[in-house]
Amino acid sequence: MRRYPDAISFAPGAPHPDTYADLDVERCLSRFLDHAVTEWGHSPSTARRLLYEYGPSRGLINALVADLLRRDHGVEAAEQSVVVTVGAQEAMLLVLRVLIRSTDDLLAVADPCYVGVTGAARMLGVETVPVPEGDGGLRVEALRAACHAARREGRRLRICYVAPDFSNPGGNRMGRRDRERLLELAEAEDFLVLEDNVYGFTAAPGDELPSLKALDRNRRVVHLGTFSKVCFPGVRVGYVVADQEVVTPEGDRTLLADHLARLKTMVTVNTPPLSQAVVAGMLLEHGGSLARRCRARSALYRRNLALLLGGLDRLTEQGLPPGIRWNRPAGGFFVRMRLPVPADDALLARSAEAYGVLWTPMAHFHQGPGGTDVLRLSCSYLTPEQITTGVRRLGAFLKGEMGA
Ligand SMILES: Cc1ncc(COP(=O)(O)O)c(C=O)c1O
Repeated sequence: MRRYPDAISFAPGAPHPDTYADLDVERCLSRFLDHAVTEWGHSPSTARRLLYEYGPSRGLINALVADLLRRDHGVEAAEQSVVVTVGAQEAMLLVLRVLIRSTDDLLAVADPCYVGVTGAARMLGVETVPVPEGDGGLRVEALRAACHAARREGRRLRICYVAPDFSNPGGNRMGRRDRERLLELAEAEDFLVLEDNVYGFTAAPGDELPSLKALDRNRRVVHLGTFSKVCFPGVRVGYVVADQEVVTPEGDRTLLADHLARLKTMVTVNTPPLSQAVVAGMLLEHGGSLARRCRARSALYRRNLALLLGGLDRLTEQGLPPGIRWNRPAGGFFVRMRLPVPADDALLARSAEAYGVLWTPMAHFHQGPGGTDVLRLSCSYLTPEQITTGVRRLGAFLKGEMGA
């Protein structure tokens, strides 16, 4: 992006700066301090010290997070089953490191997949099995086949990572019945589902679907969340709900969350208390629920998505070369577009230099050979004017490079 400062970039999947322009960090901190005094019974000086000292590795604001999950997500999580992490990213790393213990254990991932999880797996030497995703999200029957194939080889699928709501990069969403089928499969084949719920909040009011964790009756789901998109990404606060029971070699019964917290002491020690206090203050300001805040942010993202999709439709009316198609997600940050030519880095460089528009080649998100003729368009970080100009440039690029 820095190489092309005048280009409009449909590449970054970052939250829009307008969504946190109103956040008053000092006010959040003072709300947190009040809470620590009035609800937790600390003296003002002890409360203040909480901000500056090392903190518990499992987190400082777990009760508030558990309360948020109950109010906003229909998830009943005991405070002890929550670990507050440095973004959802750290949670992914901890979960993979704790749960994958043998080279025979495999991680299934939706294909294409968010690079944060595939990158963490690569770093830990965890082998991944790509499972295709369609418009209806992860293909459950393909996952079933992957379980059976692993078993035939004497291995086992231990975890399946999935973002059921408007996945990154595919923009796909699983329907309710498929969510239930996935949980049934997890029970039948004895694996855990690692649910990443980053974009669920972008659904239109009334169009929300229950998270996998809200449907989970058998503790099959380890649930990841983040405040990056609804607070601000630099706050680096996420969480994991890990209510699975683990029996230690000594026969003690513990929670998976305990094991994650123990490992966290070797990774980041604790999530910065200052950041947790900002998030806590924001939660307290909103009476423990972020539903109202999420609705406003969701409206902004859906406005951007509608502008992008409407602009693309107008390009079609003006006549686009054949073989160009895109999906129409109802939420999330991403649209994927199929081209009649390879959407590779060379084409991206041409798009940037000659037409002033950037996007992301989808092949970067695939484990295997898929996605070579697909690109990802993200509209979260742009203003309406930038989207309009960007779509016009995209039209010139498509016609210029793929026209007769
Ligand atoms: C699917 C998905 N999961 C996780 C994250 C990262 O979350 P965090 O900022 O909490 O580490 C992102 C960020 O873009 C994402 O797209």
